[in-house]
Formats: sequence, C-alpha cells, structure tokens
Amino acid sequence: MPSAPPPFPAHAFTDVDAQDDAARLVHCLDLLQAEPFYAGYKARTYELLAARPGHLVLDLGGGTGDDARAIELATGARVALADSSQTMAAEAKRRGLGRVLRADGYRLPFPSSSFDAVRADRVLQHVLEPLAVLGELVRVTRPGGRVVVVDPDYATQVVDVDDHQLARRVLGFRADVMLRHGTQAHRMPGLFGRAGLVNVVVEPMTLVVRNPEAVDGVMGLWTWAATAAARGLLSAEDAERWPRLLDAAVNAGRFLYAVTFFITAGGSPGGSDHRPSSRAVTGIEAEQARHHEHADRRPEPADAEPRG
Ligand SMILES: C[S@@+](CC[C@H](N)C(=O)[O-])C[C@H]1O[C@@H](n2cnc3c(N)ncnc32)[C@H](O)[C@@H]1O
Repeated sequence: MPSAPPPFPAHAFTDVDAQDDAARLVHCLDLLQAEPFYAGYKARTYELLAARPGHLVLDLGGGTGDDARAIELATGARVALADSSQTMAAEAKRRGLGRVLRADGYRLPFPSSSFDAVRADRVLQHVLEPLAVLGELVRVTRPGGRVVVVDPDYATQVVDVDDHQLARRVLGFRADVMLRHGTQAHRMPGLFGRAGLVNVVVEPMTLVVRNPEAVDGVMGLWTWAATAAARGLLSAEDAERWPRLLDAAVNAGRFLYAVTFFITAGGSPGGSDHRPSSRAVTGIEAEQARHHEHADRRPEPADAEPRG
C-alpha cells in the first residue's frame, strides 16, 4: 500500500465511496460508455485480451460492470470484476454481473496465476503507485496470459482557443494536478517492461471532440480554470476568461478538444497452455460470501471534479 497521502485533493475516482453523491459517478461512467470513441477503444482492449470460452478474465476497477459483461459477450470468457468502491461493486451486481468483488488493486485477494487475462481501463491514472498495482495484476495472471491497460495521456491535449498560453496552463493543470498520473499513459510500455511483461505493444487512439456537450461536457473542460483558481494556481481573471474563450470558439464553429489514449498490452512471461484451475472461480465466490474488504485503505480527500 502507498505510504504517503497525496499532496493535493485527489480526483473523485480515487475514492468513489467518499464522495457526497457517489451515484453521479455511476452516471458519469454511463455517459462516457455511450460515446462512440469509448465504445471503440474498449472493443479494441477486449480483442487484445485474447480471451476465449473457458478463460477467466479480471477487470480491475471495472466500475459499473458494463465492460465485464461486454467482454463475456464478445469473447465467451467468464469475467470477474474487482473495484475498490462499494458503490461500483454494488452497481455491477445490480446490473447482473455474477463475479464481483470489492477489492483494492494493491492487494488482490486471488492466488497467483488465477486469470488468463487482466484489464484496467482508466484506473492506473488514479492510483498513487501504478507500478505496484501493475505488479499485482501480473502476479494474478497465469504465465502466457495477457495484461491490457488503457489510460488517456493528458500531456497530449489540445484545444482551439485564442489564448494559447492560457490554454497550456489550464490543460497543464488538468494533466499535472487534477489527476495523480495524468501523463503516464505513454510511459506504460516502460512500466510493462519493468513489471516483467513481454511482447509489449502500444496502440494510440485519439479522442477528438467537436461538440462541447459530448464526452460529459468534454470531461468538465469549462470548469478546469475555476478549479485551478480555487487552488491558487491561476488568477481569478484568467479563470473568468477561460469559459468565455471556449464559448467564443463554440460560437465561431471551430471548437476542438483532443487527447490521445494509449492502450498497452503485454504477455506474462513463461507462456504455456496452462489454464487457471476452477479454484480461482471458487475463490472469487468465497470472497464474495465473506464480503471481503480491506480495512487498511486510507480514505483520501477527493476533488469535486468527477469526470473520469
Ligand atoms: C474512471 S473509473 C473507470 C471504470 C471502468 N473501468 C470504465 O472504464 O468504465 C475508475 C474506477 O477505478 C476504481 N478504482 C480506483 N482506484 C482503485 C484501486 N486502487 N483498486 C481498485 N479499483 C480502483 C474506481 O472505483 C472506479 O470504479
């Protein structure tokens, strides 16, 4: 587990259950799920899992469980979901997913080599120590199994407004302060190598938004400058100008925001045709029965900004 608390309020998705209205985060995931870009990159992650009937897959930080059920439909594999949030785990169960656990990615309650493939979609950007969580994913993946991770990389953001210096500062705030690891996704292949994964591939997919209401209001872009000003990182005048610059771009018909997501996939070393035993599934069900929770998770202050 990480030892130091974050130096700034963390993004709401670092601790969903600590939010005043955790249900709105479920709604936020539903909004994004409905976006064609999200459907497209998610479908590609399902392919990269190389899962098939008889396989057991883990979706870490699986949120509402919609992805887990989509993977089951797309591949015929059985999928377990582990999420640190009780709200999300309950929602995934409510939506009909059978194998759901509240569990933290730092310490997964599964024996080594439990899964044929594991996946983390927009999760590692939120954890304090991504390499530690990645190591845990590798541990629970069988030799020769697949590990697939995807995150946006906010170092790649662009937006068309008339003040480029201010745009850099606001987008930099989103990248460097609003998220713990907002600029990590392009470094994920390096982390995969450090975690011992082999045959690592990386695929970029760029989200380009022209409709300012799409992608949950482009993930809150209009509010980022005000949040920066509230933290003393931007002047009140610049914060007030930011939404007007965006509105001017919209009114001129030239609004454009873009950010690249990197999907990274690799293989656990020592490949074989070994299949995880039914012990893993039985273990998940036993854990569910015990309502396993980690008592030592440190509640963390969270940002008011919910977009994931
Ligand atoms: C941005 S949401 C993504 C949800 C889902 N993967 C999707 O693509 O819709 C991040 C999810 O990761 C979960 N999460 C955050 N930190 C976690 C951790 N340390 N271990 C397990 N889950 C975590 C959150 O509760 C949340 O459900």
